[in-house]
Amino acid sequence: MAKHTFLTGDRPTGRLHIGHYIGSLQNRVALQNSGDYNNFVMIADTQALTDNANNPEKIRHSLMEVALDYLAVGIDPKKTTILVQSAIPALSELTMYYLDLVTVARLNRNPTVKTEIKQKAFGESVPAGFFVYPVSQAADITAFKADTVPVGDDQEPMLEQTREIVRTFNRTYNADVLVEPEGYFPPKGSGRLPGIDGNAKMSKSLGNGIYLADDADTVQKKIMSMYTDPNHIHVSDPGQVEGNVVFTYLDIFDPDKQHVADLKAEYQHGGLGDVKIKRYLNDVMDAVLSPIRNRRLEYAKDMASVQQILIDGTAHANEVANQTLQEVRDAIGFNYFK
Ligand code: TRP
Repeated sequence: MAKHTFLTGDRPTGRLHIGHYIGSLQNRVALQNSGDYNNFVMIADTQALTDNANNPEKIRHSLMEVALDYLAVGIDPKKTTILVQSAIPALSELTMYYLDLVTVARLNRNPTVKTEIKQKAFGESVPAGFFVYPVSQAADITAFKADTVPVGDDQEPMLEQTREIVRTFNRTYNADVLVEPEGYFPPKGSGRLPGIDGNAKMSKSLGNGIYLADDADTVQKKIMSMYTDPNHIHVSDPGQVEGNVVFTYLDIFDPDKQHVADLKAEYQHGGLGDVKIKRYLNDVMDAVLSPIRNRRLEYAKDMASVQQILIDGTAHANEVANQTLQEVRDAIGFNYFK
């Protein structure tokens, strides 16, 4: 039976945080270790440049940080091809062809890009490359014929747009070259991870994240400063569990669900202090984060070997992407010199 293929990626604009871990990284490791997939993980530096054209240094620096984060969470270069987007020229050519199969009106309707344009306050001055990045992402996915894309929910519109491009391409050129991808989302109930301040989104600009590279002290400080229930003043007061970040994290990270239920009951009744519950969360988080942190430190001792992992992964990725590009050119009929 033909294997499935997964591909996913991250923009290297900073280190990865535990929201990335819950939202996507954990899923990739599970898929990788299932043995059912050809695995590709892309560091999307070209996509990162679409809204950072004047700050390539940030991307350059983050690239190695993201590579370390991948290795730290258990993405295994023996099983998964880790590649650098800008070093795969076929992706640019595919993007050019796909751009002709998409309308500006359709691009304008992509809800994720719409939100990002608002958040970044681009207005009419949105860089054209940023506006069309869903098309370049369709090139990323289809170049490797990925049928499975493990990402957070906000990437569903990219997948929808990719499927449309695939169908339009195959129909227009009467070909059966490109593969329609499905998203692979975190299990329902695992929830989106809020920032430590209670903001729904964990992000660098809000300064409310816990990073995979944070040392144990830093994580502890962040947990001790976490948003709980502002009306829970005295230990004996009844406390709110909803919207209380400590409990949101316990729901996601503590494998002992019964214990979490008991703690919630105690907190709601009154008698469980914030400091105590935060210390407990710190223990739970440390069990998850310390193996990741230790693996990261181990890899960071030998950056030359990390670079070699990227070189090897990118070389393999070029072979696969060039093969697809050849099929795409053949389908269009752009193969005059063959
Ligand atoms: N847009 C994705 C993000 O911001 C990153 C990305 C780039 C990606 N290329 C991809 C994700 C291909 C999945 C597949 O997280």
